[in-house]
Amino acid sequence: MQKIEPIAGKLQIICAETQAPPAALVVFGASGDLTRRKLVPSIFELFHRGLLSERFYLLGCSRKKLSDDDFRKIAQDTIQAGHQKDFINNLYYISGDYDDEQFYKRIKKRITELEATYKIESNRIFYLAVPPLLYTTIIDRLGKATLSCCNQSDNRNQPKLVVEKPFGSDLKTAVELNTKIHECFKESQIYRIDHYLGKETVQNILMFRFANAIFEPLWNRNYIDHIQITIAESLGVGHRASYYDKAGALRDMFQNHMLSMLSLVAMEPPTSFYPDHIRDEKVKLLRSIRPFNLLPWHTDIIRGRYTAGTVDGKNVCGFRQEPGVAPDSNTETFVAAKMFIDNWRWKGVPFYLRTGKRLSAKLTEIAITFKKVPHSMFASVGLGDMPANVLVLKIQPNEGISLSFQAKRPGSKACIGTLNMDFNYADIFGAELPEAYQRLLLDCMAGDQTLFTRQDDVQVSWELLEPVLEAWKNTDLPPHPYPAGNDSFSQADNLIESDGRHWRKPL
Ligand SMILES: NC(=O)c1ccc[n+]([C@@H]2O[C@H](COP(=O)([O-])OP(=O)(O)OC[C@H]3O[C@@H](n4cnc5c(N)ncnc54)[C@H](OP(=O)(O)O)[C@@H]3O)[C@@H](O)[C@H]2O)c1
Repeated sequence: MQKIEPIAGKLQIICAETQAPPAALVVFGASGDLTRRKLVPSIFELFHRGLLSERFYLLGCSRKKLSDDDFRKIAQDTIQAGHQKDFINNLYYISGDYDDEQFYKRIKKRITELEATYKIESNRIFYLAVPPLLYTTIIDRLGKATLSCCNQSDNRNQPKLVVEKPFGSDLKTAVELNTKIHECFKESQIYRIDHYLGKETVQNILMFRFANAIFEPLWNRNYIDHIQITIAESLGVGHRASYYDKAGALRDMFQNHMLSMLSLVAMEPPTSFYPDHIRDEKVKLLRSIRPFNLLPWHTDIIRGRYTAGTVDGKNVCGFRQEPGVAPDSNTETFVAAKMFIDNWRWKGVPFYLRTGKRLSAKLTEIAITFKKVPHSMFASVGLGDMPANVLVLKIQPNEGISLSFQAKRPGSKACIGTLNMDFNYADIFGAELPEAYQRLLLDCMAGDQTLFTRQDDVQVSWELLEPVLEAWKNTDLPPHPYPAGNDSFSQADNLIESDGRHWRKPL
């Protein structure tokens, strides 16, 4: 752990950063999109920043026949120039079939050789960068090849398993997957990725709430009117069409990213930054969420599906017309929900969540709307209804925080207008924030599970959504249509407007 002390005379900065210990990263699905676009560039950035151990190697494993050199050439094209050679020579590749036990014997032999070369005694990480249908096969074969365990009793030296989202497609499959993994790996060895938790701005929710004394006293039902959480995408389904058609917005975004953000913004203060103290509070919060009201005449969760429309000035097709999507698909591309958290802090405060594809813009934010002033002393001069203060945690793009407040406009005797106090990451820290995978890979190498989803977290979130999935499966009513480029539709608007509130605009 590196510590940088406060810089005298400037802003108080206290940094703690982890340096990766020696590690072996074994990636299944190394010929795929995630490895090429995210994993290799993120590992290279860690190397570039001096955070990777010199005793590190990556072994790619896939069916595609490639030599070490072929794999290195593919990797080279994905990373920025500068010290490439020093890095690239630590990449290796081995090909074989995921269900072939001999493949795992060859992997084990290769790992043993490489560990001798790199003098790595422990810290093997098996990363499943493959479609979910392959998870159980690979886990089973790792177990059979005794690659999932080691002799040392020290937890930190146990091999680790990184599992990508989606973690199951419903409660049953999530429980089955957990059971299968636990046959070979203990919970302390499992790193379930929700890459939103690797984003700087999502982690900043914790810093903002628990490193400042002024907001926490207001962070409750006495001062907060409601909270809106939005993940909007302007993109359609692209090359993920066939996966997305089976998943939909509830499984792809809501079960993981949206509930993660909700739990961070609403959970009780953990006693320390220790991983399980934070994860305990997240799960406790998820357990306090009131089950959705799914009665047909009053539903708390609404789904939509984009039809043809215009996004960024371009005509785009509807979801059902996307290549790879079934023409009679009933999959949702938009979810809006009203949620309540039944605990002392949040009783009666609505949380409105929405996520959708093919909306007018890409935006992720959490907006906390405070209660209005109880009485306007300016009513006598015609200024009765004062807008509420809104605190916006801007997750992406234009990462930052803004707080709106009322202030006197100069000139007239009583003229009040809304102003925004804005903090933008780009202004202070430069334009580019580190890719979420850098943080997650670094933490995994260091054995820090804080930003990884625990088994009970996954299970509780699927338990919450299971009745919704069932109701949608059994209804004849299709998702509500919305033209691509629109940010909502009347039923989603009604969800919030029937409470006398509005979705934040513009997206
Ligand atoms: N790509 C992303 O940005 C992203 C983001 C978040 C989460 N994820 C998750 O990360 C995992 C990997 O994603 P990805 O986009 O990299 O996947 P991918 O490119 O579709 O697949 C990765 C590799 O798995 C092998 N593979 C694919 N389909 C297979 C099949 N039916 N049978 C056997 N092998 C198959 C292929 O390698 P070989 O044929 O050479 O074996 C392929 O190169 C998925 O679970 C995905 O949900 C991806």
